[in-house]
Amino acid sequence: MIEFYLQIKLVHVATIVLSGAIFLARGSALLAGMRWPMAAPVRYLSYGIDTVLLTAAMMLLTILPGALFANGWLLVKVALVVVYIVLGVFALRRGRTRAMRAAAFVLALLVYAQIYFIARAHHPLGALYLWS
Ligand code: HEM
Repeated sequence: MIEFYLQIKLVHVATIVLSGAIFLARGSALLAGMRWPMAAPVRYLSYGIDTVLLTAAMMLLTILPGALFANGWLLVKVALVVVYIVLGVFALRRGRTRAMRAAAFVLALLVYAQIYFIARAHHPLGALYLWS
């Protein structure tokens, strides 16, 4: 599968951009009082993109040598993906007040950015490492 590494990584990164853009649009629209972000087609589109994102991630994991993850960046990244998912659920659905949903939304975007920087830097500190 190594011969498809670049294509698989391209799929991973393209779906990251799409997934982030859809979350940004849905979260902002919900906070503005709109209802379309929770419509079934939008939700299923979002689930579909995230499934492709994670499938590509698993394929990259199987292709790459374990030594690439020796400093723990992938472990921190996956832990933050879980945090991002929980925050996303609170931002879009579970947050009881508008303030709670807004706080979860902003935190989720910050966590998403940190996941991105961790991946780019191949370092658990992500943005902090790049700017240090
Ligand atoms: C459980 C979820 C995820 C896993 C297991 C995972 C795993 C990986 C792996 C193994 C790579 C290849 C690294 C390399 O080629 O050197 C990668 C690349 C990347 N991932 Fe993820 N990923 C996940 C989710 C995400 C998310 C949610 C984001 C977005 C914020 C993201 C952003 C990136 C980026 C930008 C790259 C390219 C890094 C580079 O240029 O070297 N990943 N990911």
